[in-house]
Amino acid sequence: MSYTTKRYDFSDQAADYARLGEELAALIEGENDLTANAANAAALIYDALPEINWAGFYFLKDGELVLGPFQGKPACVRIALGRGVCGTAAAQRRTLVVPDVHEFPGHIACDAASRAEIVVPLINAGALLGVLDIDSPRVGRFDAADARGLESLAARFLSGAPPAARAR
Ligand code: SME
Repeated sequence: MSYTTKRYDFSDQAADYARLGEELAALIEGENDLTANAANAAALIYDALPEINWAGFYFLKDGELVLGPFQGKPACVRIALGRGVCGTAAAQRRTLVVPDVHEFPGHIACDAASRAEIVVPLINAGALLGVLDIDSPRVGRFDAADARGLESLAARFLSGAPPAARAR
C-alpha cells in the first residue's frame, strides 16, 4: 500500500476529490464487507482532508443511526432519524452543509472542537443505509465543492456494497 499522509492540499477540490475517489476505489476493490470498507474510507478521508477533526459513518439499524467506523474522538453511539445534523440529513435524504454547528438547532456535540459539519446520506439501491459525517474545527470549512466531492466518495463506497446491503 502506498497511502501516505496529507498528499492533497485541495487547492483544486474537484481534482483532489477525484484522485481520492480513485484511491477509495482501489481500497475497496474486490471487497464487499461494509465494515471493512467503511473503516478504510473513514481512515482515507481523515488522513487526506485538511482541517477536519472527525470522519466516519453512522449506519441505519432498526430505525436509528448507529455509530460505525470512524476516525477522531469517541462519538455518540445512537442518533434518532430527524435529530442532529446526521439524523436530519438521513431523514431528508440530502446532503447537509452546516457552516456553524452552533447555529444548527439540535446539533449533537460530540467533540467540543467541532464547528462545521457536512453529512452525506448513503442511499443504496433506493434504501437509506446510513450517513457519512465529517466535522471540522473551522467555521465555514465545507462548501458546495466538498458536498459534490464527498457525495462522489459516498457513491464509490456504495459501489462496493451488495444491492440490498444493510449494515449489521
Ligand atoms: N454532530 C452530529 C453528531 C455526530 S458527531 O459530529 C460525530 C450531529 O449533530 O448529528
